[in-house]
Amino acid sequence: MYDPQLHKAISTILQKKKIDIGNADNMFYTRFVANATAIKFLYYELYKQHPEADKLFNLLIETMAKAYIQRPAALKQRDEEKEKKGNWFLSNEITGMSLYVDRFCGNLKNLTEKLDYFKKLGVNFLHLMPVMESPAGESDGGYAVSDFRKVDERFGAMKDLKTVQEKMSAANMYLMLDIVLNHTSHKHEWAQKAKQGEKKYQDYFYMYDDRNIPDQFDKAMPDIFPETAPGNFTYVEKCNKWVMTVFHNYQWDLNYANPLVFIEMLDTIFFYANLGVDILRIDAPAFIWKQLGTTCQNLPQAHTILRLIKQAVQVATPGMALLGEAIVAPKEIMKYFGTGLYAAKECDFAYNATHMALQWDALATGDTRVMLAAQHEILQKPFGTSWITYTRCHDDIGLGYDDYMIQYAGYNAYEHRKFLKEYYSGVHELSPAKGALFSVNPKTQDARISGSLASLCGLEKAIDNNDAVAIDSSIKKILLMQAHSFFIGGVPMLFYGDEIGYTNDYSYLNDAGKSYDNRWMHRPVIDWSKNAKADEAGTIEQKVFSGTQQLISIRKKLEVASDYKNLTWLQPHNIHVVGYLRTHNESKLYCIYNFTGEPAFLTWFAFKQHGRITERLYDHWKNEYHQVGFDHEYFVLEPYRFYLLEPV
Ligand code: GLC
Repeated sequence: MYDPQLHKAISTILQKKKIDIGNADNMFYTRFVANATAIKFLYYELYKQHPEADKLFNLLIETMAKAYIQRPAALKQRDEEKEKKGNWFLSNEITGMSLYVDRFCGNLKNLTEKLDYFKKLGVNFLHLMPVMESPAGESDGGYAVSDFRKVDERFGAMKDLKTVQEKMSAANMYLMLDIVLNHTSHKHEWAQKAKQGEKKYQDYFYMYDDRNIPDQFDKAMPDIFPETAPGNFTYVEKCNKWVMTVFHNYQWDLNYANPLVFIEMLDTIFFYANLGVDILRIDAPAFIWKQLGTTCQNLPQAHTILRLIKQAVQVATPGMALLGEAIVAPKEIMKYFGTGLYAAKECDFAYNATHMALQWDALATGDTRVMLAAQHEILQKPFGTSWITYTRCHDDIGLGYDDYMIQYAGYNAYEHRKFLKEYYSGVHELSPAKGALFSVNPKTQDARISGSLASLCGLEKAIDNNDAVAIDSSIKKILLMQAHSFFIGGVPMLFYGDEIGYTNDYSYLNDAGKSYDNRWMHRPVIDWSKNAKADEAGTIEQKVFSGTQQLISIRKKLEVASDYKNLTWLQPHNIHVVGYLRTHNESKLYCIYNFTGEPAFLTWFAFKQHGRITERLYDHWKNEYHQVGFDHEYFVLEPYRFYLLEPV
């Protein structure tokens, strides 16, 4: 509802800041007024009890105005171009890669020389793993940030990051950086001041004089890293207090019940927006609100904070989309897109972590029923939002889907998960995979899985055994997994090294700052002489690279692969085979996958259950035609093969 007083207050603040609300800045002003009521509502939902709520609300408005004033003209123009495109990030033309700058190419300067490599592969969107200052040895891969506005010297300097952004923008590429919202490093200035006893900064964190409240919190909060960082609090000798540290003991949780924390972090978000970030990855948003007696995950207030961020960004730096990295149960993930009045007004993106894990499930079991049992949740995603789809990333694979989905497929959930863990850690006698269990919880035996795409698909063992047939089969599996995630809807995000088939790297075991965390086994250091083999016909590197390249290029050609909420699952006829139909205007694309090492049979009837179909199907993957048969005949799928079939 329109609030005239709020309108007036905003106009006054903006005019004081010399913002030309009547002319040049009118669009900004309009956006501000249009979103003002929502911003005020969301803010007061969180902070109405706070003694300085009103004063700080004005600071919030000023922070937004400042962000707009500081936004470079080139980015304002980019905002307009994106707006003209409409939902720019739903496009089939975007393909991403996530990488550690140092492990990929040394530093940011070198990265500018690698843009041709991405172009050749077809990647036009980069997620640079955290590049801001983070203490060596206590860095969690950069997710323990000691200065949100200073590029870590290991990577270069802020001007190098700026150059990367400019060159990428000139090459029509998109950039993603992280905002580590939930915590800071204990070396961050705020944490240092808190350690020295400054009350103002102690209030930025959850700090307690004794174990009384921490013990109460711990009762309901699960352990995130039970092996390496059990419990959720750390004793700080310097100030004789306990501080909340949900992740590692060197990552201090920020207290968002304090509006100053929110505004400071929003200001940092704008700082990243004004660096030219196209998609901001909000790290671990599920954790940002804490409440005694709860798990302190996915709380309603966490969503309110994200909605407030979304509204503020929409006003001041509208070209930047938001990705919420919520790796939680399927039902909970969906809420990060916004619900009710806020549907499609929270995070623009979430990771399709459920589907990622389900692909690994199907690959191990050769059975696609669990995957299908989960889709009714995943399909609830509101129009206008999208997924980051992936097979591997820098993190572990959590088997986070629900037990009922497993039971629906006829399995015992505990035994099924046990099998998957044994399969991918390579202890199961029939398993070709090589990986490891990550964060085993001694109390529940819960565990996640580490390992590279290639090693989990069997390539490492196959190479060790010099087994040409197994090598071939693992390459097929790699491409099957990639294809499935590339066409499921959303922006595919490759993990660097996977385009070449890098197997696990065990050198992390010799580094004290990493050896406690086996996720490093799948974070390779790129050997560019190995990558050069992508040009040598017949090598493993070439087969994986050219297959990945081809998938990207097919997807770029087919608008039907855009994420317009245009996916329908084919009805199941054979548990080893799964398929979905993508449609857009008159176009159709049947994406069919055989998750077993045997030929599989699919009745032609499956293709006809979604309307009339032409007599021939063209497979974009192998450039071949298939004649559609009678209902009692079968389409025969080769082992671990997928088909991207367009009726012609
Ligand atoms: C996210 C990151 C992960 C990190 C954690 C704590 O989940 O992806 O790597 O350990 O947040 O920041």
